[in-house]
Amino acid sequence: MTVAGPTFDLVVAANRLPVERVVDASGGGTWQRSPGGLVTALESVMRGRDAAWVGWAGEPGPASERFRAEGMYLRPVGLSPLEIQEYYEGFSNETLWPIFHDVIVPATFHRNWWNTYRTVNHRFAMAIAEVAAPGATVWVHDYQLQLVPAMVRALRADVRIGWFNHIPFPPVALFAQLPWRRALVEGLLGAHFLGFQRTADAENFLRACRLLLGMATKGDTVTFTPPGDDPAARRTIRASAIPISVDFKGLDALARTPEVITRAAEIRASLGNPKILMLGVDRLDYTKGIRHRLKAYEELLEDKEIAPPDVTLMQVALPSRERVRAYRLLREEVEGTVGRINGEYSAFCSPAVHYLHHFYPRAEMVAMFLAADVMLVTPLRDGMNLIAKEYVACRHDLGGALVLSEFAGAWHELHQAFICNPHDIEGVKQTIMRAITAPEDERRRRMKAMRKRVADHDVQRWASRYLEALASAPAKPHRPTRASEEEGRRVERAHRANLRASDNASEWTVQ
Ligand code: F6P
Repeated sequence: MTVAGPTFDLVVAANRLPVERVVDASGGGTWQRSPGGLVTALESVMRGRDAAWVGWAGEPGPASERFRAEGMYLRPVGLSPLEIQEYYEGFSNETLWPIFHDVIVPATFHRNWWNTYRTVNHRFAMAIAEVAAPGATVWVHDYQLQLVPAMVRALRADVRIGWFNHIPFPPVALFAQLPWRRALVEGLLGAHFLGFQRTADAENFLRACRLLLGMATKGDTVTFTPPGDDPAARRTIRASAIPISVDFKGLDALARTPEVITRAAEIRASLGNPKILMLGVDRLDYTKGIRHRLKAYEELLEDKEIAPPDVTLMQVALPSRERVRAYRLLREEVEGTVGRINGEYSAFCSPAVHYLHHFYPRAEMVAMFLAADVMLVTPLRDGMNLIAKEYVACRHDLGGALVLSEFAGAWHELHQAFICNPHDIEGVKQTIMRAITAPEDERRRRMKAMRKRVADHDVQRWASRYLEALASAPAKPHRPTRASEEEGRRVERAHRANLRASDNASEWTVQ
């Protein structure tokens, strides 16, 4: 392969670059930070490292020149309008996203989307191979790039490859629906190490390997024989949980600046200094439980448990995937509901819901967190939800209360939040009321414990844990022992028998 330009010991690949080009009215372009939790989390880890980032710049067209920004070397990958439709909006966000999020909306399967997904994944792999130095570490991110690990391995046997999934990995009963499940698993197994948010996600992946593909798993490892390869090429891949976090120190410092503290007070004043300000900040995505949250809030107003101007809700809905039908429908529904709630329950000059469909600069978001008495993070399913951790990191005053869904990955670490099941509207109402009425010392105690957890497990620690796990992952094809060969044969026999028995039935056991 011809290598043009500089190469790097660390290469990160994610669907998006950390910056995207925004075209202004005069037709000129400026680079702005990309939206999304992945970029926010990784940006602080990458800052200061001499590394390359491979990703899409967020606009249609051929890749622009490589450039440097924020101390990183950026290698754009171009996507045509059709590829945006079929790889990004289609296969990534209408096929994989619903399957990986409990099928909250139905998934759509199209063979041409899959073909484009493969083509684009291959383009990413080529770009990675081009900027990776000999023996480099390649860190691939998220569900949009599941074929990339095997493709990079085929191009560059010398590099060490890790993949981290920012979203949940589905139970085998859902993953099995994907007509391309084998290719996706084999794509991932090109990596040396696979990282997930929760142990349950890693277990779901290992179960898919075992039950759908007949591979042998043991503890947190799977043994894989690449297609067409001899048993000597068999290797072991580790799949385990390393939950992502936030830049605790950075957020804490920003939240302590006089500008942010003043701005938080201004926000409260502009809302009429409510006794209780509730806040929701989410990408406008059906996984985030915004509809359920609004329903619970509306019922509390109806029950006269709360009323503006004493209590008000500020809902920030960050624009997202607006050309995908399910997202357009969600927007219509959410905005209709907000209108109805406001028509029914607002007081003169005091709306019941302040609805904002915009992106905000980081400092403004931090000021909102500091201003909010109750933060509502109630997704129906979420890999982690970094907003929950960001809120905690910003509350150096130990003020505020976090209402958190048990279906967010963050729940596994933030047990001191006010926990709810977002499907249980009555339960959400009660949890909100508990958060509002809890004595101050209880709220401070909870916040203190959560802050300790996030401070001790920040994004820097996440990155170093991940990179250590990747560095110590087995690199060579493992030498099969007699016992492991026998185990491999046993699993393959059982799998074949299962397939025979499954002509009319399911080929795997639902667990
Ligand atoms: O982790 C989920 C994810 O798809 C990230 O890749 C991204 O940061 C975020 O959600 C926003 O999504 P999108 O890039 O589709 O706007």
